[in-house]
Amino acid sequence: MTLKDVVEGTYAQAQDELFELLRIASVSADPAYKPEMQRAAEYLEGKLSTLGFTARIDATAGHPVVYAERLQAPGAPTVLIYGHYDVQPPAPLDKWQTPPFEPTIREGRIYARGATDDKGQAYAHVRGVEALLTQGELPVNVKFLLEGEEEIGSPNLEAYLEAHASELKADVIVISDGSRFAPDVPTVTYGLRGLSYVEVHVTGANRDLHSGSYGGAAPNAINMLAQIITRLKDDQGRITIPGFYDGIEDLTDEERHMWAQLPHDDAEFAGSIGASALPGEAGYTTLERLWARPTLDVNGIWGGYQGKGSKTVIAGQAGAKISMRLVPGQDPERITRLIQEYIPTIAPEGAQVEVVGLHGGQPVKIDLDNAYVRAAGRALEAVYGKTPSFTRGGGSIPIVAAFRSLLKAPVVLVDFGLNADAPHSPNESFAVEDYRNGILTSAALLQELGRAGQSAQDSA
Ligand code: BES
Ligand code: MN
Ligand code: MN
Repeated sequence: MTLKDVVEGTYAQAQDELFELLRIASVSADPAYKPEMQRAAEYLEGKLSTLGFTARIDATAGHPVVYAERLQAPGAPTVLIYGHYDVQPPAPLDKWQTPPFEPTIREGRIYARGATDDKGQAYAHVRGVEALLTQGELPVNVKFLLEGEEEIGSPNLEAYLEAHASELKADVIVISDGSRFAPDVPTVTYGLRGLSYVEVHVTGANRDLHSGSYGGAAPNAINMLAQIITRLKDDQGRITIPGFYDGIEDLTDEERHMWAQLPHDDAEFAGSIGASALPGEAGYTTLERLWARPTLDVNGIWGGYQGKGSKTVIAGQAGAKISMRLVPGQDPERITRLIQEYIPTIAPEGAQVEVVGLHGGQPVKIDLDNAYVRAAGRALEAVYGKTPSFTRGGGSIPIVAAFRSLLKAPVVLVDFGLNADAPHSPNESFAVEDYRNGILTSAALLQELGRAGQSAQDSA
């Protein structure tokens, strides 16, 4: 039987298993879900054990890591597959058509929190390995590293990598945790943005005040916070923090040209999110803004009265969550420090401000010139019947930079999802076809990586 027949013949079971994983509410951000984190880890460890992997659950200072290995291909490359079993909080619940942890199929899509990010994509590799095992022994040595803290910035994974560096040693690291460019464009992703995330707290008076008795004379924390926020960007969409852009790698002409050839249409892009315009940094195209330029966005804001009806108060306190997506050349710790130094200088008189750093992640740009990336290209081409495109991604996977620096192995990002899957949003989904193609791509990729190792040896 061909691999394709195997994957098709066993798809129903692959879907049942993914559903079981999706039913586990493994929300890493909220301590109330701690037991579910353990259950998700146990599910994966159990499954990998039945596939003949030596599998275990390692406790960390936070949520557990699942590690599994099957090293039965002496002389062949070792492939480390990374993914995450934690998911974003499902809120707002009332916006879901069916409950987030009751996976449901509608119109060829699997709806559930984590369907695409990242349970569906990570599990595609588990099933890819399973499909390949029907053909005999795996053509490469395989290690799985599945973490439970990606969505909270992987605060404990770097220490884990350091502690287990020799065990995790690999020739190549494979990750499927993002979006391919378009439904008919298979993609190898070669860059991810980094992140610096801060909270700004503003205090004006020692309590919320009567807006008549005090209005016009007392400081209003929300008004002052709003002033701070508007001063963080100029009217060209440029971030005003001194030194913010220092050291950023310029886009190469080759990249500009390559991205300009991609099938992208601004009106369609705006339409897909129901937006009437695409405001951004002057002088850059949409794809350049998404993949090669840093951002500063308010993610949440609070203060004063938010309940029903009106309440006449001046806010004593206000706050905002701010994320900055970073690009190669920027360092998250430095950027966090810069904004912490800058905000007090632009705060209006009467504002007491505090800027708290929450978490960060390094940006990455991956060198495409290696045999493993070419192997991924061949696998994608075989499955999708199209030459893959090379794009960057706007999101962040904080641990990728550490993979490179600590494990010193090339990283290959092959993404099975789409932005239209609505990761992090209500009604997140993953197309049945994408899950099936993901399984097939995973199997084809491991075969191609085996061949890449073979030809490396032949030429040595
Ligand atoms: N899978 C995403 C990362 C991603 C998204 C890569 C889109 C490429 C394209 C990941 O699960 C994620 O959401 N990461 C967070 C990181 C943060 C919590 C530190 C992100 O990007 O917001
Ligand atoms: Mn993810
Ligand atoms: Mn995510």
